[in-house]
Amino acid sequence: MGAPVTVSPGSPPLLSEGEPVLLLDRQGRRTLATLRAGRTVHTHRGAVRHDDLIGQPDGAVVRTSRGDRVIVTRPRLMDYVLEMPRTTSLVYPKDAAFVLLWADVFPGARVVEAGLGSGALTLALLRVLGPHGSLVCYEIRPDFIARAQANLERFFGYPPTLLIRERDVYQGILERDLDRVILDLPEPWRVVPSAATALRSGGILCAYTPSIVQVQQTVEALRQSGAFAAIETLEVLYRPWVVRGDVVRPEQQMIGHTGFLTLARRIATPADALEVPDLAPGEDVDVPG
Ligand SMILES: C[S@@+](CC[C@H](N)C(=O)[O-])C[C@H]1O[C@@H](n2cnc3c(N)ncnc32)[C@H](O)[C@@H]1O
Repeated sequence: MGAPVTVSPGSPPLLSEGEPVLLLDRQGRRTLATLRAGRTVHTHRGAVRHDDLIGQPDGAVVRTSRGDRVIVTRPRLMDYVLEMPRTTSLVYPKDAAFVLLWADVFPGARVVEAGLGSGALTLALLRVLGPHGSLVCYEIRPDFIARAQANLERFFGYPPTLLIRERDVYQGILERDLDRVILDLPEPWRVVPSAATALRSGGILCAYTPSIVQVQQTVEALRQSGAFAAIETLEVLYRPWVVRGDVVRPEQQMIGHTGFLTLARRIATPADALEVPDLAPGEDVDVPG
């Protein structure tokens, strides 16, 4: 089992009842569990009693019922998202990571998201927004809301910064003076007029769409509104590598396609009047000097 790990006073608290943990075996296979006294979690390498995990430090190595070793650790947000129950397709972590930076989501921002789906992107947004931000999520399906709430509560508890509206966002966004509008639903172009009203000048709209036809319609709606500039579409390609001894190569399988991101900036004056160009990747910023 190796030398015991010393937990210094500054270390994060020991693993405790009610928190999600990830069990990792030698092959990197992952099992997610929420710690409950008296329960058992079954991994590919055998069973582990929750009582043997509660009170361990994050990263502890424990033995399964078959005598194999597994690591118990707090899941990264992306580990949790990939393992959590889902009722919808998700914004995958590679795309969620880009949404956060490309849409420049910042602590304290006022954001509307639609639709909530399984809550994967919501989790990423909430973490960045922090205790002083606000997130309003629109979702038309009450059963999806229930699933997403369970997913959020298991990871975060239910943050006071979140409001879920059971409402068709195509009927309009109720909030005003928003910093960001983030869309993952079938017809984002139908939200463009109300997003133009709801966003403050300088605010950013970001739409995630699996199909390029959806991109085309969204970009067209953004242009025609006259309220947006700096329109940009991109796709995130993620290629993990195997690095083991002499085997140093890309993984043989990768996720071929998830979706496209389309971003645009709300402007104070109609785009036509300013003749503001769209952005193309690589030509978006002039760096002085
Ligand atoms: C692909 S899922 C969103 C997944 C979510 N981004 C995630 O990462 O878990 C699309 C969601 O949009 C919701 N939706 C579709 N049309 C909507 C509308 N007009 N207003 C609000 N929600 C809508 C669907 O019910 C569905 O839950």
